[in-house]
Amino acid sequence: MIKIVIVGLDGCLGSAFLGLSDLLTLARRAILAAIPPGDTVGAPDFQVVTASAGGRPVRDGAGGALDVKASFDEIALCDAVIVPSFAPEADGRAPEMSAFAAAAAWLRRHHSRGALIGGCGSGVFLLGEAGLLEGRRCTTSWWHHEDLKKRYPRADTAWGARLIDDRRVVTAAGPLSWIDVGLHVIRTLCGQEAGRIAADFTLGEAAPARGAARGAAYTPNVLSGGADAFLADAERIVRQSDAAFNAQDLAKALSTSERTLHRRLKQACGESPKTFIDRIRVETARTLLETSAKPVKKLAASAGFIDEASFRRAFRRYAGMAPSAYRIWAKARSQPKAQMFSVRKESEIIPEILTTILDSCVNGVTLADPDLDDAPIVYANKRFELITGYDPEEIIGRNCRFLQAEDRDQEGLRRLREAIRNRQPVDVILRNYRKSGTLFYNKLNVTPLFDAQGKLIYFLGVQYDVTDQIRAETEIGDLKAKLQAIA
Ligand SMILES: Cc1cc2nc3c(=O)[nH]c(=O)nc-3n(C[C@H](O)[C@H](O)[C@H](O)COP(=O)(O)O)c2cc1C
Repeated sequence: MIKIVIVGLDGCLGSAFLGLSDLLTLARRAILAAIPPGDTVGAPDFQVVTASAGGRPVRDGAGGALDVKASFDEIALCDAVIVPSFAPEADGRAPEMSAFAAAAAWLRRHHSRGALIGGCGSGVFLLGEAGLLEGRRCTTSWWHHEDLKKRYPRADTAWGARLIDDRRVVTAAGPLSWIDVGLHVIRTLCGQEAGRIAADFTLGEAAPARGAARGAAYTPNVLSGGADAFLADAERIVRQSDAAFNAQDLAKALSTSERTLHRRLKQACGESPKTFIDRIRVETARTLLETSAKPVKKLAASAGFIDEASFRRAFRRYAGMAPSAYRIWAKARSQPKAQMFSVRKESEIIPEILTTILDSCVNGVTLADPDLDDAPIVYANKRFELITGYDPEEIIGRNCRFLQAEDRDQEGLRRLREAIRNRQPVDVILRNYRKSGTLFYNKLNVTPLFDAQGKLIYFLGVQYDVTDQIRAETEIGDLKAKLQAIA
């Protein structure tokens, strides 16, 4: 049975700790009641456990005692762990996490054993302490944003995002985000239908509000408790600025000179005012790309760029890929199946190992995601880049047919289409074109990959450049023909 653990820590918000327990317990009841009688296949039953160090009761932020059912040590395996938010300290900040080192180590262990780890609001800091935010896209409440970045500089902290799931690490913004996290955990572990029932039952309605203002990055007027008030102010001003806004305007808005602005930014984040402004705008654009369907042109304006071209340039520089590729990559990454690259194994080294292995292949290796529009490539190894001459940002997010250029009338393509439609493996040789425009013969194998439930998750493509072989065969054929003509 699926096991979901709610972590009890001194200083947590009682509403979050108890609310999570109620939400999950009520949702479970509703989900089980919705299963038709006799249907035992795939009935997504789960168990909710509260746990603390030594199984001791904990004190919430208001001093009330909270009982827990188990000690951390008693839980060897579980499917999800949720860390509720903390009551803020007197200065508004999240508490020091060094006091929770044992809990952080326990979280790390469970993540490496395959559990989904969720943090709500300031509870996200414990995930940082556990090292789980390193290199991951994450979010927290807006007034903790600066502080989280400062305390865990290797976290890829998004501004204004409500919930982010990056490879089994779920982070959410706001003291009431335990609702979002609880429902997300149910959806991930028990499926979309169970998630819908849980949301319908606990919130009264699961559909997103129609016409809700979406896409604009959240820019509150007052930031409190930030690690660096100057930096936080500068960020807020840039986020609210328009495209004409420059370093001079920023200095003015902060009531300081350009020189002082330069010095203070260098000190606080090592950036010049221009770099700082561009980075904040790209950061806003990333959130917009992840959370809205706005066309890139409109989005560039919303993020504060003067035109689409300068947006694309800046975006590539900071995010390492084109905006459209980023959108597809972010969408693919948030799917539960993206866990394929961080499989239920010992640690996060797995994706690196996997990537290293795939990069050392003599074949091109690609993964196409059939759940996304037009089955784009979501992964390509180094060899594929070498064979085709394209950079990763020119590959990710596109359907592989771009390699065929205008050469679309090929016998192999008909067989390939049919095999993909029937979800069967296939081998074909195609005429493809490198970025330079030169022809190469691509011996392509496409294999559908299914999960344990038989659901198609990816198409695996293996590409091998057989140009020399085809040329040699053609030459032999020509030679034979010539010799026969002489004889
Ligand atoms: C995983 C995978 C890898 C593929 N790799 C290539 C490739 O390297 N070269 C190519 O020309 N087509 C490749 N294709 C095929 C195209 O993506 C596409 O399926 C094919 O052109 C037929 O569809 P279409 O008629 O919509 O273009 C690949 C397909 C998949 C699923």
